[in-house]
Amino acid sequence: MDTTMQKIVSLCKRKGFVYPNSEIYGGIQGFYDYGPLGAELQNNIKRVWWKWMTQLHDDVYPINGAIITHPKVWEASGHVQNFTDPLVDCKKCHKRFRADHLVEEFLTEDAGTASQNRLDQIAAELKSRHIVCPECGGEFTEVRKFNLMVETSLGVVEGEKMTAYLKGEACQTIYLDYQNVLNSTNAKIPFGICQIGKAFRNEITPGHFLFRQREFEQWDLQWFTNPKEMDKWYEYWKAERMMWYQSLVNHKDRLRFRQHDQNELAHYAKKAFDIEYETPFGWKEWEGIHWRGDWDLSRHGQYSGNDFTYTDQKTGDKFIPWIVETSGGVDRTFLFLLIDAYDEEVVDGKTRVVLHLRPDLAPYKVAVFPLVSNKEDIVEKAKSIYRALKPSIATIWDDIGNVGKRYRRQDEVGTPWCVTVDYQTLQDDTITVRDRDTMKQERVKVLDLEYFFAEKLKI
Ligand code: GAP
Repeated sequence: MDTTMQKIVSLCKRKGFVYPNSEIYGGIQGFYDYGPLGAELQNNIKRVWWKWMTQLHDDVYPINGAIITHPKVWEASGHVQNFTDPLVDCKKCHKRFRADHLVEEFLTEDAGTASQNRLDQIAAELKSRHIVCPECGGEFTEVRKFNLMVETSLGVVEGEKMTAYLKGEACQTIYLDYQNVLNSTNAKIPFGICQIGKAFRNEITPGHFLFRQREFEQWDLQWFTNPKEMDKWYEYWKAERMMWYQSLVNHKDRLRFRQHDQNELAHYAKKAFDIEYETPFGWKEWEGIHWRGDWDLSRHGQYSGNDFTYTDQKTGDKFIPWIVETSGGVDRTFLFLLIDAYDEEVVDGKTRVVLHLRPDLAPYKVAVFPLVSNKEDIVEKAKSIYRALKPSIATIWDDIGNVGKRYRRQDEVGTPWCVTVDYQTLQDDTITVRDRDTMKQERVKVLDLEYFFAEKLKI
């Protein structure tokens, strides 16, 4: 693993951002748990997305759909038949690999991705490039399709249980609830339904930490439009989403669009652009902007016997709404933001690790310290400030070690401001606020603190 990734994985475990799932049993590949700091960061990330979608845009309605749906949903959606990746087994060590990824490792960056849909092409590439098992040098079996859907069974009588699927993509409940949203709100086309939801995929090779997991979360917008306006809305959401990701990162040059070639397109998409981020393991997909057209509502109409034809009251146009989808990963966002924020700086001859996270995303915004722990009135004053700030702003208490060490600890987890209560506080009711990024300190009146931070947190 690349050193930056190694450092991030280690920081995540050490500081309580992310733990391997079921670690005491040796772990389980492709599953992770978020620890105390990770849960805070993840919630902040989701909150920022939610606000942007629902408050900063008109006509976007949120839902929260169930993980399990009627099994027919996945037949209609095409996932039972088409949601596959190309798989090969090593004949010698029996390890399994994604065949398109093996080929990709031989391609230059600009040659893009190997199409996961064309088994014949992948098989030919493996053969012509003499690609063998990276683990043991063995030969591969024929390339075959492997379905990624995760199955479960429902029911109480053995032998009569029904096979159901965990959501392979979170967005399906949006299509199922489309008519309900239309009937229960003032929505008129064009409008959007958004959701943050879990998805499950039996990935052949989960890896790169949170990047490719078997259980993960997606944030989706499905924008329903008159087909005549599809081009306009596709371009609109593509630009909006890129602007949003640019607002999250420090390194804007690490963002780009990449268009899918025809062979690479998912079965539901007629056109797709990925927003990619340049990670230590290459340019990787962060979010997909998909031209789904009428695929979803037509198929669900056909399989359920419902007619989703919409009549535009103004123009009289009748149509099955077309869909622009923006679909990104919460866990990937978490990982990419840590990669983007991670920095090592030499200060006074020593290295400080710092996370330059956007302040509204940081797990804690403020850390409060008493300058010394053995002077009761300083500790009491610091405690009272901590208690006053905590209900309105994520605040942490720290009185372990000297102030320099406390700064380093907070830098490492991205806390933007540290408040120190010192001897002067007892005289003039001011404290020092130290900034994570500039490391500069300023004196602020205790009475003004809440307002001071609220102003800083305004984006
Ligand atoms: N509804 C469309 C859809 O699911 P996708 O490109 O397969 O499209 C959307 O997934 C996003 O979900 C990706 O851009 C990525 O951020 C995230 N994602 C997909 N597979 C993932 C996995 N195995 N682990 C973590 N995140 C994943």
